[in-house]
Amino acid sequence: MKRFLFAATMTMFALSLPLRAAGDAAKGKEMFAKKCVMCHAADGAGAPAMKKKFGDKLKPLGGADVQKAKDADLIKTFKEAVNHKLIAKSITDADMENLIAHVRTLK
Ligand code: HEC
Repeated sequence: MKRFLFAATMTMFALSLPLRAAGDAAKGKEMFAKKCVMCHAADGAGAPAMKKKFGDKLKPLGGADVQKAKDADLIKTFKEAVNHKLIAKSITDADMENLIAHVRTLK
């Protein structure tokens, strides 16, 4: 019985991993609309005023440069960007995974 429970627990754990890592793109989209569109625009291409201000530094989120980065690197860039300072504090790790899942839909 003990062994069965162990096996069952491990199976559940293994099954939950890909789900957690993937994030919830629908929730990410909702949050993106509230916290990110003013700078990145709904399609991730960048809001006009921001594009003017930051030029090439503001990369289209759906573009190859951003999409080829690993999730962990995107999260790091996100957290380190000066322009995200105010926002980054209110974003939990789970939010971040959802947001990244949404960003992956922009390509
Ligand atoms: C105040 C404007 C602003 C807001 C709001 C904002 N960003 Fe950004 N973001 C930027 C700018 C400008 C950059 C360019 C990099 C830098 O500032 O160093 C950037 C860069 C990024 C990058 C890295 C792209 C790369 O260069 O590889 C990601 C990912 C990103 N933002 C996601 C988000 C998400 C998700 C949100 C919402 C939670 C968000 N941003 C909110 C302005 C903003």
